[in-house]
Amino acid sequence: MSALYEHPRYYEIAFSYRDIPAEVDVFEECFRRFSKVPVKTILELGCGYSPHMPELIRRGYHYCGLDLSQPMLEYSRQMAAQLEAEVKFIHGDMIHFQHPRKVDFAFITLDSLCVRNFEELRHHFDSVAAVLKRGGLYLLEWCINFDPQPHGEVAWLREKNSVQVKTTVRWDNMDPSEQLVAGSIEMDVTDKGKHEVLTDRAIRHAISPREFLGLINQGGKFKFVGWWNDWDLEQPLGWAQGRICRPITVVKRI
Ligand SMILES: C[S@@+](CC[C@H](N)C(=O)[O-])C[C@H]1O[C@@H](n2cnc3c(N)ncnc32)[C@H](O)[C@@H]1O
Repeated sequence: MSALYEHPRYYEIAFSYRDIPAEVDVFEECFRRFSKVPVKTILELGCGYSPHMPELIRRGYHYCGLDLSQPMLEYSRQMAAQLEAEVKFIHGDMIHFQHPRKVDFAFITLDSLCVRNFEELRHHFDSVAAVLKRGGLYLLEWCINFDPQPHGEVAWLREKNSVQVKTTVRWDNMDPSEQLVAGSIEMDVTDKGKHEVLTDRAIRHAISPREFLGLINQGGKFKFVGWWNDWDLEQPLGWAQGRICRPITVVKRI
């Protein structure tokens, strides 16, 4: 696991630009519109520092987070303890995982579904299918590459309690025939005068929309519900789509 994920506090600052209550509003709108089960139990895959957990708990849900990074899980545990909330965390791999109790809703944010090939993608969906109740939803933010030639760079700066974090996310097209892209995140941290650079780089299989739909439609375990731009259920992705940013995709366990 890269050094980047060993610093949850810096990671939290870097990604604090999000409006988490508004995103939880979108979850709840999806429950109302599309879920066939009442939602009480929620599983987040690649939970990291579990930014949605406090808001979900505040709204009365039972939260469980799964991640490979122990420092991220420990940070989340401390946050749950401060909230005096009973929360479950699992140290595990989202590609192959098991969970003893079925959940009503699962989600993954920030393009965290990192697979190296189609087989791993299939295993991931088999694992999610085994843990999600029939009629329950799985929501993915990004994770599908709507851009056929993903490449480019974005950077932003955030500051909290005298800690500055400049984050640069970059994608390079590695091998179009195998749909391989190299994704990297660099965090340039200045913490009370001390300077540090943390990086994560991974080569991953870029999941195309067609491939994703093929997997869902032929797998027999999920039904495609829809995909929308920028966490907005009034913006379905479609023909002549403008810039795509932070799209969400919803499938239903059948
Ligand atoms: C981009 S962060 C997202 C964290 C959090 N969901 C959020 O919205 O801020 C990705 C997280 O996925 C975790 N991760 C990466 N690969 C994983 C895997 N195969 N299984 C479980 N967790 C993984 C990393 O440890 C990291 O905490």
